[in-house]
Amino acid sequence: MAPTRTRDVFLEQAAQCEGRSELYTGLLRSWSDDPVAAELVGPDPAWDAPLRLIAGLHYLVLGGEASWDDPLVGHAEFLRDFVATRGVQTNEVQRSWILVPLLLRVAQRMRAETFDLVELGPSAGLNLVWDRYRYRYKAGAWGREDAILSFDGEERRPIPGGLLELDLTVRGRIGIDRSPIDVTTEDGARLLRSFVWAGQERRMERLDRAIEALRQDPPRLVTGDFVEELPRVLAAQPRDGLTVVFQTASFGYIGDEGRARVRAVLEQAGGERRLAFISTGKPRDPEEHCWGLRLVYWPGGEREFAGHADFHGAWLQWEL
Ligand SMILES: C[S@@+](CC[C@H](N)C(=O)[O-])C[C@H]1O[C@@H](n2cnc3c(N)ncnc32)[C@H](O)[C@@H]1O
Repeated sequence: MAPTRTRDVFLEQAAQCEGRSELYTGLLRSWSDDPVAAELVGPDPAWDAPLRLIAGLHYLVLGGEASWDDPLVGHAEFLRDFVATRGVQTNEVQRSWILVPLLLRVAQRMRAETFDLVELGPSAGLNLVWDRYRYRYKAGAWGREDAILSFDGEERRPIPGGLLELDLTVRGRIGIDRSPIDVTTEDGARLLRSFVWAGQERRMERLDRAIEALRQDPPRLVTGDFVEELPRVLAAQPRDGLTVVFQTASFGYIGDEGRARVRAVLEQAGGERRLAFISTGKPRDPEEHCWGLRLVYWPGGEREFAGHADFHGAWLQWEL
């Protein structure tokens, strides 16, 4: 028997998977009573330890080194290490669909056509190459016609067509992540794929195409804490253009103090250069379960609230 707390952690994750993945729900339920699973996640496991265990097994399945019905004991050494060393790492490229109107708004507001991009917490950097994809909105399309990947979504309040007439060129791109995934390697791509749930074929295909687009010219990913590294990265940005710093789903990991430090660094840099910041954060109504989309422009530090969006980029409500 697994200890009660470990059992609850597995059952809680099984409940989260219910109705979304029969395979994952079944595995997590059976592991809740499996002493090998309990040993692999260690005493007092974190809430996401079962997800790390399932991703570890998925990693082996993707490489043809295991099948889903293998007993865990046959892969214990690998899985123990995977659970201990790999945080859940996703890179949701559908978020580029909500990012593009925000970037276009920055271009419009700052009268800029060329950006130097800095992403905080890019994971593999798939949203750092947003200009290699195609996007569809109610008012029209934006992006490369020959793109190998295109996105659409639900527009609860549409973006203005004027935004889609703007052209944008990315001159430089850099991301700072404490554990970036290098998808230019087969192992990195397999690792990122292992965190997508098995059976989510559309998501997996989208991921594979985004990886292919990124590999055409990979962005530079710096390993480190972006709260610490941002001043150095900003200082190295060219001064003769517009630097756009953005983050999606990364600010949730750094606490109030970390967020305040990043804002202070941006404020200081914005006193010396043209700079914009795009951030997903709390919605206007804290009861809502979605993101509020915020923009800040320097010089001046003027703020805009651009609207609301789904955490994974499935819908967008433009409010400017
Ligand atoms: C949920 S993922 C989001 C990835 C990507 N931004 C996206 O929207 O798909 C959060 C990312 O932030 C990174 N991260 C969290 N806190 C960080 C920090 N203080 N410094 C650097 N990277 C951090 C994690 O390693 C992870 O890659």
